[in-house]
Amino acid sequence: MVSLENRVVIVTGGGRGIGREHALYLAKHGALVVVNDLGGSTDGSGSDQSAAEQVVGEIIAAGGTAVSNTDSVTDFDGAKSIVQTALDAFGDLHGVVNNAGILRDHMLVSMTEEDFDLVVAVHLKGTFAVSRFAAEYWRDQHKSGIDAPRTIVNTSSAAGLHGNVGQTNYSAAKAGIAAMTIVHSQELSRYNVKVNCIAPIARTRMTMQTPGLSDVMEKAVFDPGNISPLVSYLSADGCEFNGQVFSVYGGSVGIYQGWSIAQEVAVDKDWTLDNFAEAVDKLPREVKVNSQMDAIVKAASS
Ligand SMILES: NC(=O)c1ccc[n+]([C@@H]2O[C@H](COP(=O)([O-])OP(=O)(O)OC[C@H]3O[C@@H](n4cnc5c(N)ncnc54)[C@H](O)[C@@H]3O)[C@@H](O)[C@H]2O)c1
Repeated sequence: MVSLENRVVIVTGGGRGIGREHALYLAKHGALVVVNDLGGSTDGSGSDQSAAEQVVGEIIAAGGTAVSNTDSVTDFDGAKSIVQTALDAFGDLHGVVNNAGILRDHMLVSMTEEDFDLVVAVHLKGTFAVSRFAAEYWRDQHKSGIDAPRTIVNTSSAAGLHGNVGQTNYSAAKAGIAAMTIVHSQELSRYNVKVNCIAPIARTRMTMQTPGLSDVMEKAVFDPGNISPLVSYLSADGCEFNGQVFSVYGGSVGIYQGWSIAQEVAVDKDWTLDNFAEAVDKLPREVKVNSQMDAIVKAASS
């Protein structure tokens, strides 16, 4: 049995899109939610407090419990204050859903330093920063003998796990988030923290602005609400997964195998250029992987 009853959960970027769905779903199932959102535009410019506040209003109107926070996850002190908001409002913290995100797509040759830095700051540094302050609190709790189950759910992307043209910054950050998930799952299990990661596909302002995707995204399977049951399960007391990356869209959830050596060749003597060339010639030129991108192609043709 998994339970979200009275679990205090932070959702970063909880004011819109997938994060908004997570916040509403978690609250509906009894979690006490900190809705964090800077409220900027998709490219990370600007801010608007009402994004987080509106979702808090919706949760309260539906009989749930939530507070807002409008700090940027890119700001180290801001990340600390997001964690502090949970402690001040609810006296504890059980889960973090690192979801905030922006896009600044460009081909490598035209990507600016700012495009790279800002996307990496929101996704990679933001995930690091909020997790870091949550983990510090959990380590201190553990040291004082308080041993409650805690969770982190990170948000990667098929673009990070399989690569995507025009997304050097985003793909690198999302691949880093998947790697960070594994490191944090290894480091934090001693404090009873489970750390997992999702790679979703859903209809949000982010995907609706992606050339070629908007028509496909209209399909029901890409409703952003379809992602939240998995995230809520991974945030619940009783979740047994740790260090895993899940693909998720519509009614489909998959578990990734991660980087895995598909085939190996070896010699029982020193490598020379000749015996090396002979050995690697036995390796396939390409290794087929199950990509989430296939799901989009399948949905487009259905
Ligand atoms: N939509 C998809 O198909 C898809 C696919 C793969 C991954 N993702 C990831 O899912 C997450 C949510 O994306 P979405 O599609 O719902 O996009 P969205 O633009 O609808 O929502 C992102 C939210 O993050 C907030 N945000 C941005 N920068 C922030 C910051 N510095 N601090 C706090 N909040 C900030 C935004 O204000 C916005 O409300 C992102 O991490 C995204 O990369 C989405």
